Amino acid sequence: MQDQFHKSESLKILLTGGAGFIGSHVIRLFVNKYPEYEIYNLDALTYAGNLENLEDIEAADNYTFLKADINNAVEINNLFEKYNFDKVIHLAAESHVDRSIADPLAFVRTNVIGTMNLLNAAKALWKDNFKDKLFYHISTDEVYGTLGETGLFTETTSYDPNSPYSASKASSDHFVRAYGETYGLPYIISNCSNNYGPNQFPEKLIPLFINNIIQNKQLPVYGDGKYTRDWLYVIDHAIAIDLAFHQGKTKSTYNIGGFNEWQNIDLVKLLCKIMDEKLDRVQGTSEGLITYIKDRPGHDKRYAIDASKINKELGWKPSVTFEEGLEKTIDWYLNNEDWLKNVTSGKYQEYYNNQYKK
Ligand code: NAD
Ligand code: DAU
Repeated sequence: MQDQFHKSESLKILLTGGAGFIGSHVIRLFVNKYPEYEIYNLDALTYAGNLENLEDIEAADNYTFLKADINNAVEINNLFEKYNFDKVIHLAAESHVDRSIADPLAFVRTNVIGTMNLLNAAKALWKDNFKDKLFYHISTDEVYGTLGETGLFTETTSYDPNSPYSASKASSDHFVRAYGETYGLPYIISNCSNNYGPNQFPEKLIPLFINNIIQNKQLPVYGDGKYTRDWLYVIDHAIAIDLAFHQGKTKSTYNIGGFNEWQNIDLVKLLCKIMDEKLDRVQGTSEGLITYIKDRPGHDKRYAIDASKINKELGWKPSVTFEEGLEKTIDWYLNNEDWLKNVTSGKYQEYYNNQYKK
């Protein structure tokens, strides 16, 4: 099926948020794997967007970068008209829960209004002739709220978001679905669990703690540390997106997860152990940096994904074990200290001091 699709004529694909963490891995996969496609990376280059993530593919013939803000409807409409995109993969978002607690409106603007601007631009360009068109919206498992000790999120779990971030993502999912039902816009939504891997901005748990261990800084664990997340290596997410984009059923949703649940404190202790080995430090040195701090408000207790639908329909499953993925991730950060230094200069310090002030 994929080959048949693959041989079809050149596609113009708009990918939003391609300078961010997950987007850059998806861009790299598509640019390298599909030389016949034209890949357009639209990104506003917020604090989370970094073209350094794409240095290895920026000169490729099938790649174009467009600096634009999805909040600017006029600019977005003009770009759709100018480039005549066939398909959209929408990743651009404000993505960090703690920032959403500090500034919820920024999340409404980008995640809700920005998504609406893209939906409207696609609808206007495609003029109700939706043959071979697709709006693929990348979302999160956080829209389902929180789980107790047992159970998994499935595609039919009710939405029950608890943070301004997850509420904004839930809202955007609803709008995408509504455009499908109301106007016939062909869409796919996938809801993924926590990603980790190279190029993740050091505000999220794993890269933040790697950076702090390197610098011998405290490791701020929220609450009792017994919150559970389901971790997936970012390249496995990119592979799932490729499959869903090419072979997924339109007007449907796919859950993507790692089958890999960890309580935060156990994950942090494993990270400390590997980092002590890599940095030739006495075992226990990094664990000594763990500091329990005030809990995140509205903190979801547990996320865990049932990814059996994408497994059965599209044959996807994670290819990397957590131990392998974590080791690759740590090695990447240790070998790319300049990247870390660049992204943690300037505004980062201001954010850090505000978020972790005593
Ligand atoms: P990220 O914060 O690393 O990157 C977001 C990108 O979007 C950045 O390049 C940023 O410059 C760009 N952007 C932000 N606002 C923009 C705007 N107004 N206009 C244009 N570009 C803008 O995010 P990520 O972790 O790579 O997440 C990507 C997508 O995947 C998001 O939609 C997120 O909700 C979803 N997701 C993330 C995870 C995860 O664990 N990180 C898991 C599931 C789903
Ligand atoms: O589940 C998918 C979601 O995963 C994505 O949609 C989000 O974009 C992504 O940010 C992530 O959300 P989380 O809130 O789960 O990720 P974060 O890395 O911020 O936190 C992971 C866990 O670690 C969570 O229980 C909070 C805790 N934590 C986090 C930070 C930053 C701490 O204990 N201390 C910290 O300093």
